[in-house]
Amino acid sequence: MTAKIALSDIHKSFGSKDVLRGVNLEVETGQSVVVIGGSGSGKSVMLKSILGLLTPESGSIKIDGQETLGVARRHRAHIDNQIGMLFQNGALFDSLPVWKNVAFRAIQNDGMGEADARDLAVDALKRVELGPELLDLSPASLSGGMHKRVGLARAIASKPEIIFFDEPTTGLDPIMTDVINHLIRDCARELGATTMTITHDMTSVRAIADKTALLYKGEIIWQGTTEQLEASDDPFLNQFINGLPYGPIEVEGQRIEAASSQMGAE
Ligand SMILES: Nc1ncnc2c1ncn2[C@@H]1O[C@H](COP(=O)(O)OP(=O)(O)OP(=O)(O)O)[C@@H](O)[C@H]1O
Ligand SMILES: [Mg+2]
Repeated sequence: MTAKIALSDIHKSFGSKDVLRGVNLEVETGQSVVVIGGSGSGKSVMLKSILGLLTPESGSIKIDGQETLGVARRHRAHIDNQIGMLFQNGALFDSLPVWKNVAFRAIQNDGMGEADARDLAVDALKRVELGPELLDLSPASLSGGMHKRVGLARAIASKPEIIFFDEPTTGLDPIMTDVINHLIRDCARELGATTMTITHDMTSVRAIADKTALLYKGEIIWQGTTEQLEASDDPFLNQFINGLPYGPIEVEGQRIEAASSQMGAE
């Protein structure tokens, strides 16, 4: 079967800084893949490359078996139309009310009228368990958790085949984190969507991942199911999932050994 998304040997650098150094990753149709990795490891760069917002120097990014790398922006509409995205910071437009944010693509691309757009927004908000009383509010007046949920509603509003989530739970309390994780899982299942989620949050991994991939130094160095993850004795993976300060992972070029680490009292 053709993978829904297939990245092979992706290289991306900024100046002399090699961020992606041969990324290989496949996502099957309907699968939920979670990408983990330290800050600055290139997770967002990888995602932006798939979205066509950044252009890797080499490699291949296929969606439904079709090469997308090197396809000009104006010829990507059919790809972009099947993708929903929840950005790292929510990225709602504060100048627009909630309904215009949620129905943004339909209004912008399809010229949908106000009545239909409001209906679409009501439906999408309902999927993330929010009511129509939010429609005319400004995003600035929403709490962090609400903001994420409205962002999620926008990501799923056009019923995309592929949905990307960049750090969907960052900055949320544990209860709201759980709510968002379950909404992501349920919305994706209802739509039958293929999803890729980037996170630091192991509760997200456990709640939503069919497959987890660890990005380190520009490469996917481990991938497997949640059971394989729990059972793995891979030292990189263990350091990462247990949040240990010492181990094989280099932080900003430095590797911290247990014996030499000077941990102060927290
Ligand atoms: N447009 C850009 N120009 C120059 N450097 C960039 C650009 N975008 C990203 N980088 C660099 O690429 C590296 C990877 O960044 P990226 O945002 O992908 O990290 P990340 O894994 O998403 O981290 P975080 O978990 O903190 O979000 C960083 O060193 C960053 O400074
Ligand atoms: Mg990021």
